[in-house]
Amino acid sequence: MIHSSMLDLVGHTPMIRLNVLNHIDLYVKLEFLNPTGSVKDRAADHIIRKLFERKEIDPDTTLIESSSGNFGVALSAYCRKYNLKFICVIDPHISPTNEMLISSMGGILEKVTEPDENGGYLLTRIKRVQELQVKIPNSYWVNQYANPYNAEAYYQTLGREICECLNPIDYAFIGVSSCGTIAGVSRKIKEVYPQAKIIAVDIEGSVIFGGKPKKRYIPGIGSSKVPLILAQARIDEVVMVDEALTVAMCHELLNNHQIFVGGSSGSVMGAIKKYFSEEKNLEWIRSLKRKPVVVTLFPDRGERYVNTLYDKKWCEWFAGKDPFMTAALRTPKTTNPDDLDDFFEKKQASTWRAHIGEQEG
Ligand SMILES: Cc1ncc(COP(=O)(O)O)c(C=O)c1O
Repeated sequence: MIHSSMLDLVGHTPMIRLNVLNHIDLYVKLEFLNPTGSVKDRAADHIIRKLFERKEIDPDTTLIESSSGNFGVALSAYCRKYNLKFICVIDPHISPTNEMLISSMGGILEKVTEPDENGGYLLTRIKRVQELQVKIPNSYWVNQYANPYNAEAYYQTLGREICECLNPIDYAFIGVSSCGTIAGVSRKIKEVYPQAKIIAVDIEGSVIFGGKPKKRYIPGIGSSKVPLILAQARIDEVVMVDEALTVAMCHELLNNHQIFVGGSSGSVMGAIKKYFSEEKNLEWIRSLKRKPVVVTLFPDRGERYVNTLYDKKWCEWFAGKDPFMTAALRTPKTTNPDDLDDFFEKKQASTWRAHIGEQEG
């Protein structure tokens, strides 16, 4: 089939079976194959189409969002597609690649430079968004952390595609940031397969599930505020992963499986390996009398991390920050994927069980 534009290729991403653990059937939806390189294409496209449909915006509206990452890149592309003006509020931590991509695709960059009272830029960025909203008539703040169309995008597209492809589904492991993906996908999966367990994967230092804030170095996963749309997610358990394991798993995916992906893909892989090495979870698998069907997604590509996760010098610098990282860096390059077992023994699994009731919106 011939398509008329690159952006028409959003969604319908391929799924692969990945052989990493003998006792589970693991399927991975390759979300990094979306047109601008991440799962965020789905949210950007759906939100804009919905806003037009509901007459919340018109062709003269200026969209505003605070994002230095994949969502800013995706919004700049889809705003161009729908002929909308887009202002992206960023801070000095943005990578040169993302800054180039956003402006090349038509996004207007508005960079804040003053740190907020916490030493970060989150509050300054939000303040700038609000100032712009007042200054620009007919402007709309996308606000992915609270926008219900964000979750709806994943319910109607990604969640549906996953359920059409797999039968049954026993587990879904999903990385969280704005929580749009998990809110939409979890609701769809639970609707079709009510017995499926939804496991949220978060990074240490993120506050989404009540953890202590700490400086994080890997973008895309975690958040320093609790997103409003988390309330819509149907979460059974949360697995916290640290950044060292995330880096190690990214390298393992590249070395052993030829998959070049971003940090959050490494985090979900780390979570899956941790979860399925814990005795209490293995017990349930034995009672199932078949391999459980486990699904996850790899949200973005590795290219945007070449100066960090995949840079030898950065890894060495990072190893100095976390003694366990040294073990991860010694991971043999070409041996079998269970080699990280030694590493897991050192890092005690920290699985946090969420109250299902509290999570339901
Ligand atoms: C690389 C990557 N992984 C995972 C996520 C999490 O998705 P969500 O914001 O829907 O929770 C994001 C979100 O920006 C991301 O960029």
